Amino acid sequence: MNQKITAAITAVGGYVPEDKLTNADLEKIVDTNDEWIRTRTGIEERRILKTPGLATSDMVVPAVRELLNKRGIDAKEIDCLIVATVTPDMFFPSTANLACHKLGATNAWGFDLLAACSGFLFALTTGASLIESGRYKKVIVAGADKMSSIIDYSDRNTCVLFGDGAGAVLLEPNHDGYGILDSILRTDGSGGQYLNMKAGGSLKPASIETVTNKEHFAYQEGQSVFKFAVKGMADVSAELLERNHLTGDDIAWLVPHQANKRIIDATASRMGLSADKVMLNIQRYGNTTAATIPLCLWEWRKQLNKGDKIVLAAFGGGFTWGATLVRWEY
Ligand code: UT7
Repeated sequence: MNQKITAAITAVGGYVPEDKLTNADLEKIVDTNDEWIRTRTGIEERRILKTPGLATSDMVVPAVRELLNKRGIDAKEIDCLIVATVTPDMFFPSTANLACHKLGATNAWGFDLLAACSGFLFALTTGASLIESGRYKKVIVAGADKMSSIIDYSDRNTCVLFGDGAGAVLLEPNHDGYGILDSILRTDGSGGQYLNMKAGGSLKPASIETVTNKEHFAYQEGQSVFKFAVKGMADVSAELLERNHLTGDDIAWLVPHQANKRIIDATASRMGLSADKVMLNIQRYGNTTAATIPLCLWEWRKQLNKGDKIVLAAFGGGFTWGATLVRWEY
């Protein structure tokens, strides 16, 4: 028996709202077309949480419930819930806090983690460290975003890209070398100018002026982000393989953040992976920010086999980026 504790993923849950926003729908709202969106991004439709009064925590809750059911455990057994999100229900209390209450996770503590599109990877390493320390036995890591709440549906540069959704994984201690094996995580705040939400924080509190100037919406200089994303995501993924003495042949799946199919293709090619080893659902959900990677795990869970080595990779606002090596446990 391997004495070192690793954090194994022992269950996965996911949730996407029912309402769809298709490229054809967007053609009626802004000056865009299906062909442009599909060829430039790979997106065909996204899911939108339309019901008034529902927020990010309301997507976290069904994703976590599914995971608890599958594992056959009660919410009271959860030690900690980490929610990666850029669209918390409110600034405070945290979405994790509200979700724990709705779930009946009365023995848990929790917090939100903000690292934009890399949020799930940052949260996964954080959650894994709690397990590896030996102090906690059941940590849930969720990635969830209601992007529709911060999108300007008159701005064709951003409104075609994003959707809503949530995914979650359960981490438990393992002594046989399964689970989160290695991570390379990076930040570079000099990229903050290219992808951000300008107002609503302490730098520029909400005012009539910030609302008029549409500064509470996501802002992105697509081309600049694209250039950094292609390089950043491919570089860390290749470095992760190299330092673990692995090649593309050893990897069963690449689980990439779903921002743009062209960025995903570049990363796969750099790792020497064929398209059939790449999880891709951007066509159906668009960019759900922190939710893209757990949603892929959720959709592909039946095709994952015990012992599979998979690489999760992301790039996003911050800039933040990273890659994580996982040995699948179940
Ligand atoms: O997940 C977080 C990290 N984010 C990313 O990784 C996103 C990275 N960026 C991208 O994926 C791409 O840059 C976009 C998909 C956002 C844009 O693709 P692009 O190939 O970089 O296009 P562009 O911004 O250079 O725009 C090309 C043209 C422009 O027209 P002109 O100036 O050439 O006449 C845009 O005005 O396409 C125009 N355009 C559109 N046309 C139709 C921009 N948005 C649209 C649109 N429909 N929705």
